[in-house]
Formats: sequence, structure tokens, C-alpha cells
Amino acid sequence: MHSPEWLDELAPHAVGLIDRHLSGLVRDDPGRARDFALRVGPLYLSQARQRLDRPAREALFALGRRAAFPAALRALFDGEPVNRSEGRPALHTALRSDLGRGDAALAARREALAAAARMEQVASALEADARITDVVNIGIGGSDLGPRLVVDALRHQGTGRFRLHFIANVDGAAAQALLPTLDPARTAAVLVSKSFATQETLLNGTILRTWLGGGERLYAVSANVPRAEAFGVAAERVLPMFDWVGGRYSLWSAVGLLPRLALGRDGFAALLAGAAAMDAHVLDAPVERNLAAWQALCWVFNRDALGFDSLAVVPYDQRLALLPDYLQQLVMESLGKSVDQAGNPVRRPTVPVLWGGVGSSVQHSFFQALHQGTDTVPMEFIGVRQPDHPFAANHRALLANLLAQSEALANGAAHEDTQRAYPGGRPSTVILLDRLDADSLGRLLALYEHAVYLTARVWGVNAFDQFGVELGKRIADALLPAFQDAGVEIDDPVTRALLDELR
Ligand code: F6P
Repeated sequence: MHSPEWLDELAPHAVGLIDRHLSGLVRDDPGRARDFALRVGPLYLSQARQRLDRPAREALFALGRRAAFPAALRALFDGEPVNRSEGRPALHTALRSDLGRGDAALAARREALAAAARMEQVASALEADARITDVVNIGIGGSDLGPRLVVDALRHQGTGRFRLHFIANVDGAAAQALLPTLDPARTAAVLVSKSFATQETLLNGTILRTWLGGGERLYAVSANVPRAEAFGVAAERVLPMFDWVGGRYSLWSAVGLLPRLALGRDGFAALLAGAAAMDAHVLDAPVERNLAAWQALCWVFNRDALGFDSLAVVPYDQRLALLPDYLQQLVMESLGKSVDQAGNPVRRPTVPVLWGGVGSSVQHSFFQALHQGTDTVPMEFIGVRQPDHPFAANHRALLANLLAQSEALANGAAHEDTQRAYPGGRPSTVILLDRLDADSLGRLLALYEHAVYLTARVWGVNAFDQFGVELGKRIADALLPAFQDAGVEIDDPVTRALLDELR
């Protein structure tokens, strides 16, 4: 496989850096801690512990310019069909900001505002209905992970008006565990599904529809309104989604109904305003001062030039425990591609495996492997300066652990006993938020969205389709009848044997 030209240009930098120890890179460049960091509003990001030096960064910035990042972002915001395989724009930015120009973006913005007004009516009506104490979100993937993350992360600032629940998995155990804790007379359910064709959501929705005793407190968010109505949700309780927003980018739409219920009108508006502020930064800032470009170019360098095939995200904040799950879909569904937008095989590795967990807990599970395992895993640490709890000693310890881990992974420590030596040289990015609030969370998530898009731009892949998930769904659908009818022919001998075991 011939590497693309841009990778040939990065390769000499990687060769020079692969054997340089991170502690040496930091020691030899006193301005590094300052110059490899960028603050934008309440977000501070440091790449001082990435395996980069100044010439490598210049080469990456040149790559960002050559890949026409500013024009690519403009195309995104203006509603050009950046999702080429499906011939569609990806206008999630129109859900939160006014930065798009041209007919497609303006029309999307109008639709977004109208849908937001309807969502507000539904949310206010629910708030006004004193009987309703609990709301259940039924959805999966992008119709679950974003809303669940925001509700979990910002609970401490919420209105507390409702108890909010999520059912995603088709495993009936999820509904079985939740429903006995709720009163059907005091519960509303929202089926969130862009397609309204997702097996998990329809099956769980059916359970809830029966349990609620009809459709009176059943709501839906979908781009397929007729299907939602056919399911039994009255038209006035169906909020629209749009073809021009991908599921994993849809948090900012009516898919965010549960976050809206958690945060209140102003809190949800602050989430959108935070994302809009990041949009404005990413669209305006030159590549050299652009947070999303920094993230994207660093991911590309680690994956393609240095060959690291995994990325671990570790928020040091319990409220962000679901962030790795959310980013798994955003990054791996968007970048998990091996052909480019024109359908040709890419000539370099693309998506890393993204995984992670919440610090400091994971220090006591997988960090051993990060410090002394044979593979180098680039890390992203996320910390929050100001806590929202009164336990100051805990917070100091939490942040001390974050700083210590980043330092230990980078610098390592020699020891005459090899069992007790730390090789170091393990790179990390540190992102610090002043506070965890709706504004900063909106900024953080929008930052990751744009970093994904710019990475896709370098790789030439489509960040907005996900055909890879379809085959398994089709086979599962075809297999379903065989569970009840032993006469159904199963071609694959291994599947047949496994099915026999299950039957
Ligand atoms: O299986 C992939 C996927 O299509 C995701 O992209 C999407 O977020 C999820 O399923 C749920 O889809 P829907 O909102 O249409 O139910």
C-alpha cells in the first residue's frame, strides 16, 4: 500500500520523534508547556505531552492548510452535501448557530428553530402536568448516548423537576429492571428514533406503550413522522428530526428533549450556546490556533505517522463517566471507514479504537497496562477546575491524580529492577474545563464533533454515513423467524449449530 503524499511528508518527523523521550522533548524546549497549549473560553487544551516537536507541528499545520480545513468547515456549515454517499449535508451546526450561509443552511436553520419551538411547547406542557414525575427515553445509539450523557453530566445543575430514565438495549432485562420502579399513571415515554425503524427502540417502545396503557403519554422524536403515528403516537406529540442531521450529531435537536427536561429552558439554551461558541471558534480561527484542528491533526499523527492504534479518553470527573461511550459512537461510527468518499480504498490506517473510563477509578483497573504494557496508548485526560460539591480535599486529590498520571505516563521512571521501571514516553492531551456546566459541555462536545470532521477530511472518508452497521441488522432480522420455527433454513453451518444450542 503506497502511502499518500501527506503521510510521506510527516514520516521523517515521526522517525525523528519515535525514539525521542517525551521528558527530553519537554526539557529541551522550555516554551513548550505554554506554546503547545491553547485556551478558548472556559476550555484549555494542552498537547505539551504529545510526541510532537515544533517542526512536526508546523508540518501538521501545513497539512491542515493543504487539506483546506477552513473551506471544508465552510462547506459543512453552508450545507454542502459533505455526506456524499447519501447525497446529504450534515447540518448539525444549524441546530445551534446562525453561521451557515446559503439556501440549504438557512432553510435548515428555519426548520431547526420551528422544531425547537415545538419541543419547548411539549417540554412546558410536561412541566405543567403535575401528575408526571418520570420520563423515559427509549432510543439507542445517537438517540440515547448524547441525551444520557448530558442528563448524567449536568444533573447537579438541573431543575430536578423530573426523574429521567433511559432504555436502550433490546435486552428485556433493561425494561424489567426499570418498570417496577415507576407508576404508569405518572410516567411519560419518549421514543427517539430518526428512522423509526430501529428494532431495539420499536420493541422497547411496544413494551412501554402496553405498560402505559395506550398512547396518551407517549411521545416521539423522529424524521419519519408517518411511522411514529402508525405506531400510535398522536401527531401533536411527534417532534421532528431531519435527514440533514446524523443520529450521532443530533443531541442539539428535539433528540435533546430529556436534556431539556433535566436542565430547563435556559439550561438547554446554554448547552446550545456553548456548542455555537465552539462553532464560531472553529470556523474563524486559523489552523494554528484552532482547537478542532489541533485535535484532528494530533489524532492523524498518532494514528498514521506514529502507528498508535488506540485512543483512551479518561475524564477525571464522575459526572463525565459516560463521555467515553458517547465518543465511541461519535468517533468510531464516523471514522470507522476503509474506503474514501469516492469509494476507493484508503491507503493508510484510519480510526483508532476509542475506549476509556472515569478517573481516578480506572487507575485501579487498566492503568497498569498503560504504564508498563507493551503497547503505547495515547490518552486524553479531561479535568474540571472547580467542583460543584463541598468536598475540597477530594477534588484536590482528583486533580492531583490527573496531573500525576499524565506526568508518569510521559516521563516514566528508571529503576534497577526492571519489574519496577516505568518506560514513560506515553503521550497524552490534557483538556481542562473551568467548570462543568451546560455551556462548557456544549463546547466540549462540539469540539469533538469538529475534530472528527477534520480528521475525516484528511483521510478523505465520509464522517456521516454508517453502512457498516447494516449487515448485522439484516442477518438478525432474517434469523428471527428461526427462533420460533425450526423449519426455517439457516445457510451458515456455524450459525445453525449455535442456534440449535439456543433452541
Ligand atoms: O445502528 C446505527 C444507528 O443507525 C446509529 O447511527 C443511530 O444513532 C442508531 O442506529 C439509532 O438510529 P435511530 O435513531 O434511527 O433509531
